[in-house]
Amino acid sequence: MHVLLIGSGGREHALAKALASSPRLSTLTIAPGNPGMASLGELLPISDIDHIRVWVRTQHIDLVVIGPEAPLAAGWADVFRADGYAVFGPSKSAARLESSKSFAKQLMQRVGVPTAAFRSFTSAKEAQAFVRSANTPYVVKADGLAAGKGVVVADSVDETLDAIQLVANTPAGQQILLEERLYGPEVSLIALCDGVHAWPLPSSRDHKRLLDGDEGPNTGGMGTISPLRAINYSTAQELVQRTITPILNVLQAHNMPFIGALYAGLILTEHGPKVIEYNARFGDSETQVMLPLCDGDMLIALYTAALGQLNDDTLQWSNRAAACIVVGSYGYPNLPRRGDPITINTERLPTDGYVLHAGTQLVNGQLVSAGGRVLNAVGIGTDMHSALRTAYEVVDCIQLHGMQYRLDIGQTELL
Ligand code: AMP
Ligand code: GLY
Repeated sequence: MHVLLIGSGGREHALAKALASSPRLSTLTIAPGNPGMASLGELLPISDIDHIRVWVRTQHIDLVVIGPEAPLAAGWADVFRADGYAVFGPSKSAARLESSKSFAKQLMQRVGVPTAAFRSFTSAKEAQAFVRSANTPYVVKADGLAAGKGVVVADSVDETLDAIQLVANTPAGQQILLEERLYGPEVSLIALCDGVHAWPLPSSRDHKRLLDGDEGPNTGGMGTISPLRAINYSTAQELVQRTITPILNVLQAHNMPFIGALYAGLILTEHGPKVIEYNARFGDSETQVMLPLCDGDMLIALYTAALGQLNDDTLQWSNRAAACIVVGSYGYPNLPRRGDPITINTERLPTDGYVLHAGTQLVNGQLVSAGGRVLNAVGIGTDMHSALRTAYEVVDCIQLHGMQYRLDIGQTELL
């Protein structure tokens, strides 16, 4: 089978690795990909839909897999489907689950998915007046896509008021959500969906804050672990029943079948699990730890999902553990510096440990940083201890001036 994979981050590198291990794969083309993926497939250096579409017509493509949120929100899946291709990735209308938080909130309310209480505002002034009269801090969210940076978890009323101003000044912040703050451990629940059925990938946890001890600003994510002790396969299935299946059903009923990876961001509160957000795609960097823990053929799973025929037996959760440490550039997340040379000592890499590329680029043959999250150090092990040890051994093989990474990824699972 010839697969076209769209994207260029660590998530897509992990997807490319999983697809490349399928005996059914004949050719993998990645548009645009990154230097780390070059050994897994052919890189197509095009990033706009019109040119990709023209290229696709000259090929026999069996499956298109779309990684990032921006092309999904822009309707790329609809374009390829209209041209007759099997696509793993939701339509523009189904992707609104992520591209409009108020749309997601309304659906959750309609079908009874537990979520944080919220109010929606179209002006900063109204939102601030509400906060002043309530005299309580809120979680402030931009309605639209903001690359993981449209959320401020405020600790005080003043901080909430400032956050409203900040969010209102971003392009994604034309509509502002004020949300009740929830407390409890976070879980990323991601399921492969074929429009009707959902199959949970191994449970995982991201670490959103920049610094150890969950301090510092929110980022796209600084590291992930999988699976979580508290969430085995049957618990994950129950969570899917409560938080994903009702959404699939309502979208299906409105002719917006969700085909792709549906990601429910959960907080396990003392009153049970509640959804804080949906993403209409695989998580980055959850994918980096979930996919290596799926036994079976990922290409077949994505292909059958794209055809609306996902089978529960295609993949199984392995009994190993995985950890991913994100290596960020100097200045991430506010002002990530680009162009710093990267050296990876491949000879010292541990068995069961490897590097995935995210924001990297080759300039005159030299690998350099080209984004905020630069590399992912992945470790696989028989348990979380060994997975984490291996992942940090991988970090030790990386040299990048000013690199930032957390030292406490996964610690809560070891207590
Ligand atoms: P999001 O971009 O919606 O994933 O939010 C980023 C991060 O903000 C989440 O991973 C949580 O750590 C935090 N967050 C979002 N909503 C809430 C909430 N209602 N209560 C507490 N923390 C939240
Ligand atoms: N890891 C968080 C995200 O993909 O949005």
